[in-house]
Amino acid sequence: MQVYDGAVDKGLEGVVACTTAISSIVDATLCYRGYTIEDLAQNSTFEEVVFLLWNDRLPTSAELVDLKNSFGKEMALEPELVAALKKLPTKDTHPMAWLRTAVSTMGLWDVDANEMDDNANHRKAIRLSAKMATLVAAFHCFREGKELATPKADKSVAWNFLYMMKGKDPDPEMVKVFDTCLILHADHELNCSAFAARVTASSLSDMHSAVVSGICALKGPLHGGANEQVMRTLREIGGVDQVIPWLEKALANKEKIMGFGHRVYKNGDPRAKILRSMSKNMTENSGEPQWFAMSEILDDEMKARKGLLPNVDFYSASVYYSMGIPLDLFTPIFAVSRVTGWIAHILEQYSNNRIYRPRGQWTGKEGLKYTPISQR
Ligand code: ACO
Repeated sequence: MQVYDGAVDKGLEGVVACTTAISSIVDATLCYRGYTIEDLAQNSTFEEVVFLLWNDRLPTSAELVDLKNSFGKEMALEPELVAALKKLPTKDTHPMAWLRTAVSTMGLWDVDANEMDDNANHRKAIRLSAKMATLVAAFHCFREGKELATPKADKSVAWNFLYMMKGKDPDPEMVKVFDTCLILHADHELNCSAFAARVTASSLSDMHSAVVSGICALKGPLHGGANEQVMRTLREIGGVDQVIPWLEKALANKEKIMGFGHRVYKNGDPRAKILRSMSKNMTENSGEPQWFAMSEILDDEMKARKGLLPNVDFYSASVYYSMGIPLDLFTPIFAVSRVTGWIAHILEQYSNNRIYRPRGQWTGKEGLKYTPISQR
């Protein structure tokens, strides 16, 4: 029997699966299209970063206005889509499972669904990115039995998301913090969900299908799902005095501590550093500084005991919590931003495609002969 007997890189660690020019990680430096994440978080806006990710350069003023207008036009959900989405269950449904179905459902109405030319893909890129925030807010409103406010076409994604969540004009400081979170989560080289999206795109499947693949991969607790688990952990710990006893028990039980560790960063995730100071400010402003205080102890102890550093999901949890966002919406918020990165990857994959088709090393039985059911 001819079997593939090459070396197995479990989890594809260290495997370079494609070339990419979207975002790069070198040691503890993350860049989008050559600009450091610190520079973009400090000086840019989410919409500007989206243009950068999709076009390989920063926009001119006119181009930025154009992109914002396109987002503004596409942010609202069509009545027939709302009617269909209202039929989906929200009780005991995880919002990431709902979002996966919602995006797939949205594709059924997209006039460009099966068109693969550049113009159609651009229109779908705008629609998917503009509507993701609205979908997450819609889930929240449907489950709470509230009316979904119509997004305002002249406002940003960050402004509109908070507006739809709260049903009133959001605090400008909060909008700024949320916009920075969107920038920080927009792309991250060949992470699990971007790879999933690229694998689907590599069969020349359509953009909605590839984005749904991204959502499905992001949902898991080892990837985007970790941010929700971080906040559940902090609430379970309860207070600063409890952090060390809780951690000792968890490590003795060989549990994974959510929000720590990274396949690529061994000297720290630069996004976590930015989110750390945001968490300090936000928890103080919300009158609940204990969440940062507990996080800080956990951070120090994990470094000392395991040599593990926080990743993007660790401090983002207390930032979102301080904004009053429900825990189970933390990962959907990740998707609101990361959809733009997935789309950049999908377009890059289409532009230089070869189907992903790796090999598996055979470890099963060989040479068996079929036994009729009566003789088993
Ligand atoms: N808590 C405790 N131990 C850990 C943790 C953790 N968070 N992360 C890694 N380790 C340990 C592992 O148990 C393993 O120890 P061992 O060699 O004694 O068995 C060793 O460190 C290597 O860990 P792996 O899981 O093999 O590392 P891998 O590169 O495969 O996984 C991952 C990286 C998934 C991020 C991992 O660190 C993890 O599970 N972290 C917690 C979940 C999390 O925060 N995910 C979000 C990542 S960021 C993002 O995707 C947006």
